[in-house]
Amino acid sequence: MKAPLRVETDRLILGAPEPADAAAVFERYANDPDVTRFVSWPRHQSINDTEAFLKFSAQEWERWPGGPYMIRSRIDGRLLGGTGFGFEGPSDAITGYVLARDAWGYGYATEALKAVIEIARVIGVACLSATCHPQHRASWHVLEKCGFVRNARAHRQVEFPNLAPGMLQDAFVYRFVL
Ligand SMILES: CC(C)(COP(=O)(O)OP(=O)(O)OC[C@H]1O[C@@H](n2cnc3c(N)ncnc32)[C@H](O)[C@@H]1OP(=O)(O)O)[C@@H](O)C(=O)NCCC(=O)NCCS
Repeated sequence: MKAPLRVETDRLILGAPEPADAAAVFERYANDPDVTRFVSWPRHQSINDTEAFLKFSAQEWERWPGGPYMIRSRIDGRLLGGTGFGFEGPSDAITGYVLARDAWGYGYATEALKAVIEIARVIGVACLSATCHPQHRASWHVLEKCGFVRNARAHRQVEFPNLAPGMLQDAFVYRFVL
């Protein structure tokens, strides 16, 4: 079963990315050093990087039950960030979230992640996982608020390319079993 292309929550719209989103994604968050410090992908240096991401996203949606989502404000449609699924198998997906700097601190990450969990449930994902830098308290707090459980024994070696390019570092591994 395919994930819906658009989902509304109290304050947000989660929608599958479109090629026309490139400029907004680049300017709102993908090029921002503060926003991308702890993410697992290299900060976008030019809009070409963002276009490549959007192409990848479309391929993910074609290949798997779902893929990345854009997060927008329901009030004015403004782009706030991104979340969604990275499928590793038909019923296993990783998730994450990233918000433009001016959208931090309003509970949007929590609201978006709860919606992603509900979509996962509907489309038959058995296990959602997420990795997180140990120092990124706000991020793992969001995961824990939404019911993700840290696997104390599973420390995945992950590259944080905007913190230490080319170096693998221990990351917290979180799971949500549906
Ligand atoms: C991490 C991020 C997604 C949080 O988004 P957000 O919408 O501000 O998160 P929420 O408001 O839903 O929840 C944040 C929680 O962390 C808490 N928090 C914020 N900063 C914190 C800190 N430095 N230490 C501990 N907790 C912190 C908040 O108080 C809130 O908890 P509460 O609801 O119990 O008060 C956002 O800061 C972001 O996009 N950062 C950049 C991208 C990124 O790092 N993504 C994650 C990669 S793993």
